[in-house]
Amino acid sequence: MRSAHFIMGPEVKAFEAEAASYLGVRHAVSCNSGTDALVLALRSLGIGPGDEVITSPFTFFETAEARSAVGASPVFVDIDPDTLNLDAARIDEAVTARTRAILPVHLFGRPCEMACVLGAAARHGLTVVEDCAQAFGARFHGKPVGSLGHAGCFSFFPSKNLSAFGDGGLVTTDDDAVAETARMLRVHGSRQKYHNERVGCNSRLDEMQAAILRVKLPHLDAWNEARRALAARYREVLAGVEGLVLPALSDGHVFNQFTVRVPARDRLRARLEEEGIETMVYYPIPCHRLKVYETSHARVSCPEAERACGEVLSLPLWPDMDEDTQLRVATTLAALVREG
Ligand SMILES: Cc1ncc(COP(=O)(O)O)c(C=O)c1O
Repeated sequence: MRSAHFIMGPEVKAFEAEAASYLGVRHAVSCNSGTDALVLALRSLGIGPGDEVITSPFTFFETAEARSAVGASPVFVDIDPDTLNLDAARIDEAVTARTRAILPVHLFGRPCEMACVLGAAARHGLTVVEDCAQAFGARFHGKPVGSLGHAGCFSFFPSKNLSAFGDGGLVTTDDDAVAETARMLRVHGSRQKYHNERVGCNSRLDEMQAAILRVKLPHLDAWNEARRALAARYREVLAGVEGLVLPALSDGHVFNQFTVRVPARDRLRARLEEEGIETMVYYPIPCHRLKVYETSHARVSCPEAERACGEVLSLPLWPDMDEDTQLRVATTLAALVREG
């Protein structure tokens, strides 16, 4: 505050360097939200009107919105019911002459099956943009998400694993030209002030948010480890409860959410609420069934995503959740599911 340097100053520069080093990428370009990170990445990779982008229908609308915002059409490919991520084995059949990119989402902090995604991209000459909004610090076969595709997009919304005290986002890439374009687009399409080259936007990270993110980044691995330990305890206490499907504790998963599946979800959620336990439903409607895509995607069918929307329930989980609180949530949930 004393420096009176509020936007894109030394804190932003230092945070970008530290984030790039943590993620093992050449460039990290900050911006003011995860949604903008997706838009900037797609535009910088030259994806636009007429192009198709393959993605998951079981995600936050912003993933699809970003593609629509740059004029590209989202093509929804059903999910793998075990991981809730895009089923990479179905990518080939969704590719058309207009397909330009694949946009896998590392949902709830679980890395997508990136070997298959990258394999499909290589077969068809497609660009891969990772939506890492929920997965800062997650790793696929030891490599950080956001460093696997042509670009990675992160959100620092307060509920994320690495979060700001407000909005924030980041584009990662190893491609110098993509990074340069993203840097230009985030400040009104200008490399040099008042010399605008393209129609860009205003999407800058505040110094204050960058400073907060710099304080938090060194703690991230410990927080992610704590999330994994909490997930392991949930799995232990809830094991064997009939009718409850638990998320697998896969390698590199950072559990932004611990999401179970249960058939009578809404009734269970209401009863948990009566017991003072707040849960969330991410997401109640698959993207292709949202009003915004009602006409354009009327014939799309993704039965696994549709079924998941009716069954998923995210349980409370934050890095310093204490054992007593967690056990109360787990035992109450187990008792209610057993009661039926
Ligand atoms: C999967 C996913 N993609 C994109 C976004 C958009 O990020 P932001 O809210 O920072 O715009 C979010 C969430 O916030 C998200 O969960």
